[in-house]
Amino acid sequence: MSWKRIALLGPPGAGKGTQAKLLAEKTGLVHLSTGDILREEVARSTALGKAAKGWMDKGDLVPDDLIVDMIRGRITGADGFILDGFPRTVVQAEALAKITPLDGAINVVLSQEEVIHRLSSRRVCQDCGKIYNLLFDPPKVDMRCDACGSPLFLRSDDNPDVIKNRYNVYTQETAPLIEYYSKQGLLYEVDGKKPSRDVLDRILNLITG
Ligand code: AP5
Repeated sequence: MSWKRIALLGPPGAGKGTQAKLLAEKTGLVHLSTGDILREEVARSTALGKAAKGWMDKGDLVPDDLIVDMIRGRITGADGFILDGFPRTVVQAEALAKITPLDGAINVVLSQEEVIHRLSSRRVCQDCGKIYNLLFDPPKVDMRCDACGSPLFLRSDDNPDVIKNRYNVYTQETAPLIEYYSKQGLLYEVDGKKPSRDVLDRILNLITG
């Protein structure tokens, strides 16, 4: 039977968002990205957005309690989901386990060197959120989204100093989840350096058993 409750792990820029969007289209599962939800809160200047912005601009994690409160209702309201960017700490993973079990956690593996290379050349559609890469997956028309025609932008946390901090934060706070899920027999790995299509096929193989 296919998995319905999936978490994508991996360093910043590993391709979690790219794969989660493709998987959501293929499977009909809901894509829940804590980064996207937070960026929307920041854009709307909500109380959560104002609180989160300082941490996000530095590339630090937003506190666990804010994140768990933000995502809990979305998880319980979904009939199956792909988590992208959550959980990010062992505390978040323990909170998630109390909400619902996972069918599997898929670690998208990518080196630090490749992370920096990819994130410096990432651009995102300001309206529909489609993800591009000026080196690997450029838009057909310069700096315009292929899907909706809106302008593309460089995320404010995709600058070299913040990227380095995000990678360090990943190593310290998020990488321990690899052991956490491995001990539970829930961890699966995919090579994030392969072309996007191959990464998707490997994940689809895993989740459809
Ligand atoms: P978030 O938005 O989650 O950022 P992230 O984890 O750093 O991940 P990214 O979105 O940068 O990368 P990705 O793996 O999705 O890669 P993508 O598919 O875009 O979080 C942002 C901030 O919010 C955090 O720093 C924190 O402050 C806060 N936050 C969020 N969640 C939190 C939580 N749970 N707890 C606390 N704080 C939280 O791909 C990257 C690039 O590579 C793109 O250009 C893409 O086109 C390209 N690409 C993708 N796949 C391939 C491929 N196979 N080959 C070549 N290029 C590829």
